[in-house]
Amino acid sequence: MASAKKSNEHPDSKRTLAVDIGGTGIKVMVLDENGRPLTERSRVGTPQPATPSAVLGAIVGLVKKQDAFSRASVGFPGVVRNGITETAPNLNPAWKGFNLAQTLSRRLGKPVRVANDADVQGFGAITGRGVELVVTLGTGLGSALFVNGRLVPNLEVAHHAFRKGKTYEENLGNAALKKAGKKKWNKTLRRAILELERLFNYDFLFIGGGNAKKIAGGLPTNVKVVSNVAGLLGGIALWRD
Ligand code: BGC
Repeated sequence: MASAKKSNEHPDSKRTLAVDIGGTGIKVMVLDENGRPLTERSRVGTPQPATPSAVLGAIVGLVKKQDAFSRASVGFPGVVRNGITETAPNLNPAWKGFNLAQTLSRRLGKPVRVANDADVQGFGAITGRGVELVVTLGTGLGSALFVNGRLVPNLEVAHHAFRKGKTYEENLGNAALKKAGKKKWNKTLRRAILELERLFNYDFLFIGGGNAKKIAGGLPTNVKVVSNVAGLLGGIALWRD
């Protein structure tokens, strides 16, 4: 009796598959209805070229290693509007105008919501009070702004001029870290923090993404480094209507 019940566990429960599409890796895990992880994170390298069909194939492959879920949330590394991807600077030009929410929903047979990856990371990190800026350091540079917990949509700091004739992403993305080395990259990061504080006058800045672990030395008290797992945990927020 007990085992029969177990195999049927929570057929209608609100388990959310959280997906983080990155320029380097694609990660998934299943969250419970409060956004707590139910499974270990599975990861696969982002296929190259990172076309929509290759990335969707990778997600479907990862899902096979995970538990059942009833809906999915996706963090995407570009501008997303109504489930449609508009830009993808570190993936492939074929993403322009691609209906990711609808196509993935058909592949998974479950409802899917999609948001920018830094927005999702932000939902998993912010306190919900005041002006909170989120920056993610990974292949690209993600940015998200929240006011009292509400997202100000489509903030894209990455491709704005910063210094030495280069953009924030060109100065602080993964390619720049590799080229400049950790020490110089850290120095540039401190300059960027000063610049962003002058621009946004935030109460808090949260820094996440895979390269946040490369931050060395102290940071101002209103700046916090958050775990990269927040990139997945924030996925639950996309279903808060
Ligand atoms: C994109 C952002 C994205 C960031 C991190 C940037 O190149 O323009 O939309 O959030 O990379 O993936």
